[in-house]
Amino acid sequence: MSGGGSNLRALLEAAATADYPARVVAVGSDRPDAGGLDVAAEFGIPTFTVALEDFGNRADWGDELLSQIEQWRPDLTVLSGFMRLLPPAVVGALSPDLINTHPAYLPEFPGARGVRDALAAGATETGASLIVVDNGVDSGPVIAQERVAVLPGDTETTLHDRIKPVERRLLIDAVRAIALGTLDLKELARS
Ligand code: GRF
Repeated sequence: MSGGGSNLRALLEAAATADYPARVVAVGSDRPDAGGLDVAAEFGIPTFTVALEDFGNRADWGDELLSQIEQWRPDLTVLSGFMRLLPPAVVGALSPDLINTHPAYLPEFPGARGVRDALAAGATETGASLIVVDNGVDSGPVIAQERVAVLPGDTETTLHDRIKPVERRLLIDAVRAIALGTLDLKELARS
């Protein structure tokens, strides 16, 4: 499930190569205008949108989202740029096979403004993380993470632009390892 779609594009490009062991079966969003939906269409991947506004409450929204996801029987659900907390029923059904990218070195700077918060704090380094989603805000077990330096004069855009390629690499490598069975999310979530 995606936002602007740069992580999704990178994953779809990787999945299109013969030796990559994972395939993307569907792409979902909570916003009909999410760039990731266009990227998915470009690659011929089925899409679905489940907008919170169309439901009376978050639990019903989550139930519909879960049923849309489960209809594809994915081995793994990847969030990237999905800027809402998932209801506990969704997390309970999918985690630990539910992962998220985050543009900071967790547990530093969790939440929706990870890049901005790192800059505001005057950090000299931040990073990129890939985590298992749990019921907290970016609080699940870390699958992989890497440091990225904050440079003098960095803006939120320039810093995020340097973090995103790292996020993409972490995501592609981890999805490969999960598909090959060399990375076991259940074991990671237990430890
Ligand atoms: C990524 O930095 C992700 O970690 C954050 O939002 C951005 C989404 O980028 N939550 P994209 O949708 O993959 O382009």
